[in-house]
Amino acid sequence: MKNEVNRALVAKKKADILLGLQWGDEGKGKMVDVLTPKYDVVARFQGGPNAGHTLEFNGQKYVLRSIPSGIFQGGKTNLIGNGVVLDPVLFRKEVEELSASGHNVQEHLLISKKAHLILPTHRLLDQANEAAKGKAKIGTTGKGIGPTYTDKISRNGLRVGDILEGFEAKYRQARDRHIEMINGLNASAVAKGGTAVSMEGLEALEKEWMEAIEFLRGFQLVDSEHFVNKALDADKSILCEGAQGSLLDIDFGSYPFVTSSNTVCAGACTGLGIAPSKVGEVYGIFKGYCTRVGAGPFPTELFDETGAKIRAIGHEYGAVTGRERRCGWIDLVALRYTIMLNGVTQLLMMKSDVLDTFPVIKACTAYRVNGVETRDFPFSIDENVEPVYEEFPGWQTDLTHCTKEAELPEAFINYVNFLERELNTPIRIISVGPDREATIWR
Ligand code: GDP
Ligand code: IMO
Ligand code: MG
Repeated sequence: MKNEVNRALVAKKKADILLGLQWGDEGKGKMVDVLTPKYDVVARFQGGPNAGHTLEFNGQKYVLRSIPSGIFQGGKTNLIGNGVVLDPVLFRKEVEELSASGHNVQEHLLISKKAHLILPTHRLLDQANEAAKGKAKIGTTGKGIGPTYTDKISRNGLRVGDILEGFEAKYRQARDRHIEMINGLNASAVAKGGTAVSMEGLEALEKEWMEAIEFLRGFQLVDSEHFVNKALDADKSILCEGAQGSLLDIDFGSYPFVTSSNTVCAGACTGLGIAPSKVGEVYGIFKGYCTRVGAGPFPTELFDETGAKIRAIGHEYGAVTGRERRCGWIDLVALRYTIMLNGVTQLLMMKSDVLDTFPVIKACTAYRVNGVETRDFPFSIDENVEPVYEEFPGWQTDLTHCTKEAELPEAFINYVNFLERELNTPIRIISVGPDREATIWR
């Protein structure tokens, strides 16, 4: 007779993970939306409203910050996981904007009770931290991400589940602690000739925040680790949605110019309560070139008209802050590194059409570090790192009209084949425009 223990160990569905392999803004939102019809549940596992995930369909454009990008594909369940940091005010705005455009998200959205809350003073702390760093600032999105994760790790955070009981006292304690910290940071910013962050207006921010907490109470707040594991046991399929990109990972990114969460695939395990043995496909998403927002090293960055042309054609401006994105050629040393870290099983290549008019395309295949060539990503990618490029003739064809692989020009296919060889991973999807439909499966 089969015993119960063995039966429980029989693997059912596994969770697939989609994440960015560069410095963010690879097109994760679009691809999660495209893949959602194959899944029952879409779950965000880390980050917060520093993310801006853009989706386009039926001539409409939407930017999501905290809500998973599966929300527009009918009756799928969308989950904000425990690894996410949630700003109730921005969350409320996001929900209200979606409602105004006819999308009622409440019914299909679950929020983990273990997700941490971003307080108004976390946002002020983010600004005060940056001011105190002076020239060494990170160029954060100013959304309070770093301070909220700092409170989580230092065991001072407030969680969504806390709003259900004795919340006001916990809130006041955290707020008072933050104010003391902001005062200290302000003093050091002023001593360096910088400006202090004003606490004026905090009362109004707190009022708005408390109202947003009330709004949050109207949502399904769940023990999400139980929800996802029961879903897998019931043979439901889950797509885990990453935010930011692997080069912004707190452990493996270009530290300290990174975000404050684990953006790599292990983040989906801790950010949702999914065991590594229950991970299936890992979709790694990258652009045919590279961009970065905020400060920090970027070996293939272009400061010339080619960089400006990529920015103009690719509309490379931040979805959250509107900042210009820094642009450069694709970096295969960095991509090999992030593919390794994430165990990527298939690649999705985005924004291929942006390079349509370029006579020559370059790809960085190695770094020269202090005169020595290496294909491995080094400890630091500082000014000693010089990219080594391989050049390709551009395809000089409008890819946006292509609907299947057979229609793609030969020069482009040659380039894709080269990338697959260099990255040792199959490219399964080629995106040729922002719309849901502009997607070619291979
Ligand atoms: P995410 O943060 O990874 O979701 O990416 P963002 O939404 O911040 O940035 C990607 C931008 O590129 C968005 O404006 C998308 O609409 C757009 N986009 C996505 N795929 C393509 C593509 O294949 N071609 C072009 N031209 N734009 C794309
Ligand atoms: P999506 O999900 C691009 C960058 C910021 C800054 C650094 C730290 O849309 O790809 P933070 O506010 O997180 O403390 O900022 O990380 N950054 C992003 N860059 N896309 C994002 O998200 C980003 N989220 C954070 O610009 O350099
Ligand atoms: Mg983005």
